[in-house]
Amino acid sequence: MTQDELKKAVAKAAVDYIAPHLQSDSIVGVGTGSTANFFIDMLAELKNEFDGAVASSDATAERLKGHGIPVYDLNSAGEIEFYVDGADESNERLELIKGGGAALTREKIVAAVAKTFVCIADESKMVGVLGKFPLPVEVIPMARSHVGREIVKLGGDPVYREGVVTDNGNIIIDVHNMDISRPIHVEEQLNNIVGVVTNGLFARRAADLLLLGTKEGVKSIP
Ligand code: A5P
Repeated sequence: MTQDELKKAVAKAAVDYIAPHLQSDSIVGVGTGSTANFFIDMLAELKNEFDGAVASSDATAERLKGHGIPVYDLNSAGEIEFYVDGADESNERLELIKGGGAALTREKIVAAVAKTFVCIADESKMVGVLGKFPLPVEVIPMARSHVGREIVKLGGDPVYREGVVTDNGNIIIDVHNMDISRPIHVEEQLNNIVGVVTNGLFARRAADLLLLGTKEGVKSIP
């Protein structure tokens, strides 16, 4: 199976997982990235069975609207039962690295609000220890050098992601070679740096369910 076929399989599994719970007033939280895009395209087939969506990025909002799915502002949306999104890495505790697509802050906000965070990923994303994928950090532009120096003090190698501006008007620093054997601790340390908006560790709010696409089929973890 190709990686895209694995992504489609987990997107379908996520739609099948949430479909029985959808009601006419349900609002679905929707993530960003290539796996989330497959999910959006399949979710569209059920668009008459729920109210609409909250999007974690402008790109996702456009794709949802393109399918005729209403997109709500998070502040005016009611309860969000499910948030469905991909990841760049997951460990066995479902702690994640996200933000490869620079949407980490809005993703983290919607994940925080949703009752159940369903992560969808192909098996290449499963790792023993997080951190081979450089950890994205969203930073207020004027704090770029300061944040970089603080990251070095924490043992990471900061790399400015050239040419990328987030949906919130900020920049991204990707942190290489960081020891992330204690994800919650590292998430807190990075959040404590002045000028950091958020970081791509989803450890304090890990996923509740991982649908992992493998050659043997989709595995549900836990
Ligand atoms: C977006 O900022 C990311 O958090 C994505 O969820 C993550 O990069 C996974 O993307 P893919 O599904 O494209 O691998």
